Amino acid sequence: MKPSDILSHEHRVIEQVLECLEKLAEQAAASGRVDEQSAREAIDFFRNFADRCHHGKEETHFFPAMEAKGFPRDGGPTGVMLYEHDQGRRLVTGMADAVAASGDDPDAAARFAQHARQFIDLLREHIQKEDHCLFAMADQAFTDADQQRLLDAFDKVEHEHIGAGVHERYLELANTLARRLGVPLAAQPADGAPSCCGH
Ligand SMILES: [Fe+2]
Repeated sequence: MKPSDILSHEHRVIEQVLECLEKLAEQAAASGRVDEQSAREAIDFFRNFADRCHHGKEETHFFPAMEAKGFPRDGGPTGVMLYEHDQGRRLVTGMADAVAASGDDPDAAARFAQHARQFIDLLREHIQKEDHCLFAMADQAFTDADQQRLLDAFDKVEHEHIGAGVHERYLELANTLARRLGVPLAAQPADGAPSCCGH
């Protein structure tokens, strides 16, 4: 299992919750009301699993390792990815603000749906770029020693930075949301392969 495989497996879980968010946006736009509990849980997932855990590994380790191999940040592929991560953070903040206002602002549900749809489009395209382009470029450039260094660094992110058991809690939250909203669960990796982050 390469570091890019770990990131790709995490993408499948993120896509599962994007599908949940799509249902929440549809409901909010149609009914004028936000399902606050599910929306807060999805936002929590995107902030902590997608951003802190997954983007954290990319921004702190994977992208710098690519830049060390000569891929430029300014005007290069990692610069584009970082810009899109920032756009995503702004849209998640927009969703969270709309949910917080949804009790007494009649336009909040429409605002939530609008930010959610923009976020879904952004992240789906972003994941496609990483899975089909960026990771292949990186894997061609990385030596076996580079790959091992990244695997060790990812492990450290999970155990020292994020904390034991947190990753599993968010995988469970992704499945709870999917079951509640009728979204299919992401395919599990083949037997013996860790699902993500070495877990
Ligand atoms: Fe990613």
